[in-house]
Amino acid sequence: MSALPILRLGTVKDVGRFEEHVRALGVTIPCDRELLTGTNSPLRAPLERGGIKIGNRIVVQPMEGWDGTADGNPSEQTFERWRKFGRSGAKLIWGGEAVAISHEGRANPNQLVIAEHTRKGLAELRETLIEERRRTTGSAEGLVIGLQLTHSGRYCRPNRRDKPEPKILYRHPILDKKLGLPSDYPVLTDGEIESVLEKFHDAAKIAEELGFDFVDIKHCHGYLGHEFLSAHTREGKFGGTLDNRTRFLREIVHAIRMIAPRLKIGVRLSAFDTVAYRPDPSQSSNGKLGPGIPEEFANLVPYRWGFGVNAQDPTKPDLTETIQFFRLLEDLRISLVNITAGSPYYNPHIQRPALYPPSDGYQPPEDPLVGVARQMNVARELKKCFPNLILIGTAYSYLQDFLPNVAQAAVREGWVDAVGMGRMILTYPEILNDASSGRAIEHKRVCRTFSDCTTAPRKGLPSGCYPLDSYYKDSEFAEKLKAAKARA
Ligand SMILES: Cc1cc2nc3c(=O)[nH]c(=O)nc-3n(C[C@H](O)[C@H](O)[C@H](O)COP(=O)(O)O)c2cc1C
Repeated sequence: MSALPILRLGTVKDVGRFEEHVRALGVTIPCDRELLTGTNSPLRAPLERGGIKIGNRIVVQPMEGWDGTADGNPSEQTFERWRKFGRSGAKLIWGGEAVAISHEGRANPNQLVIAEHTRKGLAELRETLIEERRRTTGSAEGLVIGLQLTHSGRYCRPNRRDKPEPKILYRHPILDKKLGLPSDYPVLTDGEIESVLEKFHDAAKIAEELGFDFVDIKHCHGYLGHEFLSAHTREGKFGGTLDNRTRFLREIVHAIRMIAPRLKIGVRLSAFDTVAYRPDPSQSSNGKLGPGIPEEFANLVPYRWGFGVNAQDPTKPDLTETIQFFRLLEDLRISLVNITAGSPYYNPHIQRPALYPPSDGYQPPEDPLVGVARQMNVARELKKCFPNLILIGTAYSYLQDFLPNVAQAAVREGWVDAVGMGRMILTYPEILNDASSGRAIEHKRVCRTFSDCTTAPRKGLPSGCYPLDSYYKDSEFAEKLKAAKARA
């Protein structure tokens, strides 16, 4: 950890002080002091590439709410979240949220499912978003809406929140232990993978029929698509060489082009990763989480259980295979790519930099701005290599009040084509719309990364911003969350 104490951005009023701290940390984050508005704002510029036209550079990242019904339909809380997406002013809605391609592939019993019986619910979600967009901004022109298709793989919990039912592709020396898997726990067979592929094809067909502009074939955060990329040790046609490890993607893309030819395809990718982290036991006590430290890996070098990971030092990224994967995306004529990193389950500080840890996390092992810079700089490097792709950047919410300054600079300087917001959407979805319209930022609505949006689902409750959003703050779930946290 850097010697510099973490600067609480909520207390910083001046962009100059923010820039000074970034410099002192020794990282690079672009930042514009002056916010441009209207047609002068880089965030308002339309984007057209690869047959895709997007009205501006503001993106809603997929944000699931653990609030679907038992059969995988949206609930009133799901609609409420999609209304937020609609009034954000963003013209690219990346996925809405993770939607499972089958019941077995759900990450929790409240995850949405795409199937015949959820057609109507998913169509209404999309319409609700468009309607809210029209109601709040007057027009839905230039709006591009995708659906994120997922199978949760190692993190499946379809039936009960406290009952993991992992579907794994290979034995993982660290993650198997974390999940408590016995040494004879079965690995998905090639035949079972073929059935999963068929479900993806059916899901894409439905998404096209419901009017979604694209589907995201999710390859991030430790779920099944991402696990394929690190299946170095798996035997057979889905493991070993990069060609085999990307067969899953290629087969889905090939099928979609045949059965849903109008549907565009995107990929959300954990572009890099690290070995898993855990709270330092020597600094954890009485329910207090210590700072994150890497799991023991000395006996596991060269490290063969990651994607975008340096095999000699798996605490560090290596983009060699990531770049090869991007070449494949170009070959497959996929131009929508959303860069993320790591996993919320085993290295949350890499994936969603935060000041306060979720209940299953650890105290930040670095200034969270270092995590923001890491994702931003990887996105920049990839954008330089692949100028023709539409590249979306992630992990901006921790920037808090300075998110608009950084987002504008990142787009203006070509680090990314568009800026995605995750947690900020839950508290202040209109932040970039306000900033690029010349309206003052409402500081009280800025996400402070309290992580209750992750802790609540870990305690069996819907996700949402309990500290700042009155919809959750005043709900019956708020008391339950308080009690669950007190018990812990
Ligand atoms: C409550 C919550 C739900 C999320 N749901 C999804 C999801 O369904 N699919 C996905 O790819 N990422 C999901 N993410 C990750 C976010 O899209 C995003 O990558 C992450 O929060 C970092 O971006 P931010 O700094 O803007 O929050 C979720 C994150 C949170 C906190």
